[in-house]
Amino acid sequence: MNFDEIIERRGTHSAKWDLMEPLYGVPARDGIAMWVADMDFRPPACIEQALEKMRSVGIYGYYGDDADYRAAICWWMENRHGWKVDPDDIFTTHGLVNGTAMCVDAFTAPGDAVVLFTPVYHAFAKVIRAAGREVRELEMVLEGGRYRLDFDAWESAMTGRETMLVLCSPHNPGGRVWSRGELEEVAEFARRHDLVLVSDEIHHDLVMPGHNHTPMALIEGVEERLVMMSATTKTFNIAGSHIGNVIIHDPTLRARFDARMKALAISPNSFGLFMAEAAYSPEGAEWVDALVSYLDGNRRLFDAGVNAIAGLVSMELESTYLAWVDFSGTGMGREEFTARVEKQARIAANHGPSFGKGGENFLRFNLATPRVRVQEAVRRLQAAFVDLQ
Ligand SMILES: Cc1ncc(COP(=O)(O)O)c(C=O)c1O
Repeated sequence: MNFDEIIERRGTHSAKWDLMEPLYGVPARDGIAMWVADMDFRPPACIEQALEKMRSVGIYGYYGDDADYRAAICWWMENRHGWKVDPDDIFTTHGLVNGTAMCVDAFTAPGDAVVLFTPVYHAFAKVIRAAGREVRELEMVLEGGRYRLDFDAWESAMTGRETMLVLCSPHNPGGRVWSRGELEEVAEFARRHDLVLVSDEIHHDLVMPGHNHTPMALIEGVEERLVMMSATTKTFNIAGSHIGNVIIHDPTLRARFDARMKALAISPNSFGLFMAEAAYSPEGAEWVDALVSYLDGNRRLFDAGVNAIAGLVSMELESTYLAWVDFSGTGMGREEFTARVEKQARIAANHGPSFGKGGENFLRFNLATPRVRVQEAVRRLQAAFVDLQ
């Protein structure tokens, strides 16, 4: 586990590094890629070993009998999250954007509206709209530097056409780890409006010290409308394996989802199954603990440096490695602060508006990179906004 190692990813078909210049105009030569959420770290050795084992056989045929794979998922959820999963409740999709799209397909109809608490992970709105459904954006309140769910204000925005809610827990961006009380309120809101509740918990392993994630499945009375989503990909940096789990305990919802899985012939590739099974292991757990502590160091360094720049506020992350920086205190328009970050600091960061209402004055910076790069990014940001000091 050497998170300080610089691994050259340019020229490897890495979206993060090789699309930085075409998408953001940040030069590949000396730019810093801090946008899409994958990490610049190698996954734990147990995953390499699983691939090595496949390679030693050297025949890449159809995968059969996934009992060990399911058992590994159940072991991880119980040991790391205190959540007992029935192995028969697990569906495997091509990642969780695909999982979300499958939920939209299975549980809503064209013309329905799907609720999102914004700003939130941009791909949710993309797949909802692409499927001909409406997005009901309910904007969270920024209070004391943290996001708060504002159910009272949201009641009047509901039209009756909403049939599903996609919750991001922990939240991306902003990194909120929702408390049990907040999750109970979300469940109550879903009940009140008769919504299928999809809880995307892909970031559940990347929780900063001092915070505890509660799986939505542990909230009472929500089971009949609940769809849980989780994955190894964010936790272990294997997003290219495009694998994720949709876990549904309610038999009616499960049957509806199963029917769509069959109709669309969704079946995962064997590389993802081997990697996920290897990841959910004691060795994988040890690696995640070390990773989280390294990420915590990175976010402290980044926050200290960025919050020292007048007008910039980096939200204190309770989870994820995705720093959410508010530029509204600079008094600059979006074009100006973005240009300073991309052209002067030569950093590619996600643009806030893509996350929906409330994201307008933000950029999101991926901190899952060797610490020297975070240091260099801070130095460049300080230089790009030096006139504000
Ligand atoms: C909340 C959330 N869900 C899903 C994904 C992507 O999932 P996948 O790569 O499995 O499609 C991300 C990636 O950043 C995410 O933040």
